[in-house]
Amino acid sequence: MAGNGAVAHSPLGLLAELTHRCPLGCPYCSNPLALDARESELDTQTWARVFAEAAALGVLHVHLSGGEPGARRDLVAITQAAHAAGLYTNLITSAVGVTARRMQLLAEAGLDHVQISIQDSDAASADHIAGYDGAFLRKRTLAAAVVSLKIPLTVNAVVHRANIDRIADMVALALNLGASRIEIAHAQYYGWALKNRTALMPSAGQVRRAAAAVEELRRRHRGEIVIDAVVPDYYARLPKPCVGGWGRRSLNVTPAGKVLPCHAAESIPGLEFWSVRERALADIWANSPAFNAFRGTAWMQEPCRSCARREIDFGGCRCQAFAITGDARATDPVCHLAPRHDAVAALAAAQNDTPYAYRGIKAG
Ligand code: SF4
Ligand code: FES
Repeated sequence: MAGNGAVAHSPLGLLAELTHRCPLGCPYCSNPLALDARESELDTQTWARVFAEAAALGVLHVHLSGGEPGARRDLVAITQAAHAAGLYTNLITSAVGVTARRMQLLAEAGLDHVQISIQDSDAASADHIAGYDGAFLRKRTLAAAVVSLKIPLTVNAVVHRANIDRIADMVALALNLGASRIEIAHAQYYGWALKNRTALMPSAGQVRRAAAAVEELRRRHRGEIVIDAVVPDYYARLPKPCVGGWGRRSLNVTPAGKVLPCHAAESIPGLEFWSVRERALADIWANSPAFNAFRGTAWMQEPCRSCARREIDFGGCRCQAFAITGDARATDPVCHLAPRHDAVAALAAAQNDTPYAYRGIKAG
């Protein structure tokens, strides 16, 4: 039982943000605006302890993420520690900062899966979105190394106004890179993407055409590649069950060691996060005030409190509710039943071509 009376399930997934450093500057980055500095990052031994504690708690898979995890010199040792703890290891990388040689060492360390992000199918546009010349070319080299090592590859394509019309080309690129799966993920408006929302927001027409394209591509490529895609938040009728429910199935450890229920949780003021530097993961999972803040259903307001879907979507996303209404307990305004649903349509209509605010700290 968690501190608020709600049942604490076992977590299944751990997002390990190894560093906030990254050579790219994607304007939709999910990292917070205040990035952790290199000096504050957890060391290899602490990550190894976190992985062992996570496995003991029931976690099955770890996503080694960032920033760019390749910016960590000890990435191979970290991967080895996660593998030794018995976790399924997934590396989430931009492909900039991980060489083919390093990929081989990672494979030997027990790496199970690789996810490479692409910014676009068009090289010039991709490099512009990444804020890094030559980023696009690196994807091809690393993908070839991954495939030759027989590690399953997923391509992750974050889509938004500048690239959403090229979904078919991005699927073709993923096939060409040898991926078995592509995730077409719409920009989610927290952190840097919230800052760049008007520049990233697609039009309703683009979203409709993209949905039709995905259906057609799924038909055309059945058996060749799995295409994952969902309706983007601001154009949906019902909210997503964000992180599978707050404090229910996953946890996120920041580069400095804070444990968060989701990657954007620090955007909600007043939450108290505990750190793996001071406490065991099991203690944090069960007792930290941040995890218990929105666990279960007792915190909900109407209409969620009496809604039949309250244990299906858990009232949507707390960070989005806060970002749009200023109240993290509010029904996610994406829901058509939410009192503030009108705000979402107004925000979706606010689009302009202002230059991107690229995310900060660059890795060398
Ligand atoms: Fe989900 Fe709340 Fe909307 Fe019901 S009212 S569908 S629980 S967000
Ligand atoms: Fe924080 Fe959805 S991103 S709850």
